[in-house]
Amino acid sequence: MLLHIPALLNADELAHCRARLRDAQWTDGRETAGVQSAKTKNNLQLPRDSEACRELGEIVLRALGRNALFNSAVLPYRVSPPLFNRYEGGMRFGAHVDNAIRGILAGGIHTRIRTDVSSTLFFSDPDEYDGGELTIHANGNEQAIKLPAGDMILYPTTVLHSVTPVTRGCRLAAFFWSQSMIAEESRRQIMFDLDMQVTSLRERLGDADPAVLSLTNIYHNMMRQWCLL
Ligand code: NI
Repeated sequence: MLLHIPALLNADELAHCRARLRDAQWTDGRETAGVQSAKTKNNLQLPRDSEACRELGEIVLRALGRNALFNSAVLPYRVSPPLFNRYEGGMRFGAHVDNAIRGILAGGIHTRIRTDVSSTLFFSDPDEYDGGELTIHANGNEQAIKLPAGDMILYPTTVLHSVTPVTRGCRLAAFFWSQSMIAEESRRQIMFDLDMQVTSLRERLGDADPAVLSLTNIYHNMMRQWCLL
């Protein structure tokens, strides 16, 4: 499932992040790539241990916490600290695979996550650069994605993906991975569809309606069956 999450960041957060990213110190993005993907990766990244990366990462994580669509679609168990990248002057990232397991530092503790869902959050508006489409390669098709600043796309980490060369301007974005409480993508999709319908029914019928209560109960019982914690 590809899911567009509009306006993850509010206007103040977006303006603050953009100003911070403009003045930040960038390093070669190949430092965080695996051996195979490093060969096709050509971009700049904020150093993971920099103050800017930590501060902006917290803003993104706070925004995720309050976003119902993200939480319903991903059912996040763990989220990796966001990383920030910059493409300009022909920089690109060729088709590649993201590792299934990644070591992360969360709350000062080293742990590992299984990468189920990838997220890319755009900080540059589409008219600020040419190229730079996030391209999803699945089932012999390619889908190019370029969203307004502050918007985010979710896609399954199971697919090959790339970023086309940026031929004008500068593309700023954040990306991170989530481990879902439900590993299997089709089950995650069913839970998302069900949650969307229950939410819609609640708005029309109210929380106390017997059908709403019953479907909510079914949602939670399915979570008990399928969640891996
Ligand atoms: Ni990737």
